[in-house]
Amino acid sequence: MIDIHSHILPGLDDGAPDLKTAFKMAKRAVKDGIAEVIATPHCLDGVHNCRKEDILLACQQFNKELYSQGIPLKVYPGAEIRLTPELIDCFRRGELLTLGDSGKAVLLELPQRCIGEAPVKVVKQLKDMGIQTIIAHPERNFTIQNHPDILDELIFSGALLQITADSLIGKFGRSTTLFAENLVVSDRIHFIATDCHSLRGRSPRIHKAYKKLLSMVGMARTQEIVLENRDLILNSIEISWQVNPSEKEQQVQWIKVPEATIEKTNEEYKW
Ligand SMILES: [Fe+2]
Repeated sequence: MIDIHSHILPGLDDGAPDLKTAFKMAKRAVKDGIAEVIATPHCLDGVHNCRKEDILLACQQFNKELYSQGIPLKVYPGAEIRLTPELIDCFRRGELLTLGDSGKAVLLELPQRCIGEAPVKVVKQLKDMGIQTIIAHPERNFTIQNHPDILDELIFSGALLQITADSLIGKFGRSTTLFAENLVVSDRIHFIATDCHSLRGRSPRIHKAYKKLLSMVGMARTQEIVLENRDLILNSIEISWQVNPSEKEQQVQWIKVPEATIEKTNEEYKW
């Protein structure tokens, strides 16, 4: 299996603080059935802005260390990039990494208040540049939980979705789990990933979610999500949206969280 969203590289962001922890996370990932990881340190999120050069170097060094330790895990460079007004310019200047540095797809993190037209505009701008947008864990975004129509607009603009494995198995609360389940049964997701930051909390585990996915959508679709979609990012397979979400509308019972939950966040997003 591949994990396309991971903060395993040591010392770059709020993920693995040191090499020792990163080794333990790598061993845990391998034990859980993960053979490949795309490392996605935070970029442009207002706290961490990992530089492309630093990520590439850290990834190269970490792969050497893994090899010398005999840990059978391959790590590709990537980034989790927060939606900000400067994102497109940064891409044009070649300052940001695509997933696997393949030039095909970007992992985009939406702020908790993703209102207005900007998210869709950015997805379309990236598409015009030949880059596929993959939205990171939309099920954990309270604005989207309240306004799933935002997500459908993004999907129809060409975005693909990645949910967090722990969301599916109840680690982020009931509303997030139900929303993630909605996304799964309505065929809105293309990827499931750990978003691991440490050994505790968001850790590198995916197997339990994989089993739940299997029980929900069967083997063929699970294999697509867990195994085959890696080629959408790393190989030359064309990315195309396979399911028209409107065809599945009858199955979707969107879960809404109280507006008050959103008001607790002080992050504003408009331009
Ligand atoms: Fe992340």
